[in-house]
Amino acid sequence: FVTGALAGKKVVITAGPTREAIDPVRYISNHSSGKMGYALAQAAVEAGAQTVLISGPTQLAAPDRLEFIAVTTAEEMLAASLQQAAGCDVFIAAAAVADYRPVQVAAQKIKKTGDANLTLEFVKNPDIVATIAALAEKPFTVGFAAESENLIAYAQQKLARKNLDLIIANNIAVTGIGFNADDNAVTVIDKTGQQEISQRSKQQLARELIALFAQKFKDS
Ligand code: PMT
Repeated sequence: FVTGALAGKKVVITAGPTREAIDPVRYISNHSSGKMGYALAQAAVEAGAQTVLISGPTQLAAPDRLEFIAVTTAEEMLAASLQQAAGCDVFIAAAAVADYRPVQVAAQKIKKTGDANLTLEFVKNPDIVATIAALAEKPFTVGFAAESENLIAYAQQKLARKNLDLIIANNIAVTGIGFNADDNAVTVIDKTGQQEISQRSKQQLARELIALFAQKFKDS
């Protein structure tokens, strides 16, 4: 018997970067460490939730007492997310998903030529959190917005465009928070307004965010 704000609820969290192959030895990715998403997963477990962590490649150990699904690409993360959407109460997209992937993955290592420039063509990846938010049985859906400018305005646009219930705006222009940092500071935005949470450890922030999501989910 599990007690806690999310006892009996299923929480699915995406975390870390995705990695999109260019050829057998190269890929494009980003600086997400997975720390924020893993801290949220840990906090969801502590709140009593049946927790699923879908993670891109990170250096972190999977927390105990949850289902861990390792993926590499955005398309794999989408497939795992759709599979886990059944019976999901709260979906949290903390992953930094590559917006684009190379149109073609070269079968062999791309060789250096005499040309000074190399052009790669990219195609848009599916939007995972927007796909989940468009399901007929939509979970309470939380996104993050990592922005280097116009933080609140861009986050509000993403909240509306992706049909999210709540978005966490993350200012990545500030040193010491955001990508790969141990701390974070965020603004929580939903249709009722916004609330700033000052800098603290990702673990501490995750516990506060999970408590907030549980309350908002209950009220929804
Ligand atoms: O992993 P850490 O080092 O701890 O860093 C944490 C973090 C900064 C990565 C995290 O807090 C964060 O902000 N994650 C979202 C990063 C991001 O890529 O944001 P975005 O603004 O590009 O995407 C907006 C939202 O849509 C996000 O919830 C993202 O998961 C989701 N998305 C984006 C693109 C896509 N194809 N599918 C998605 O689901």
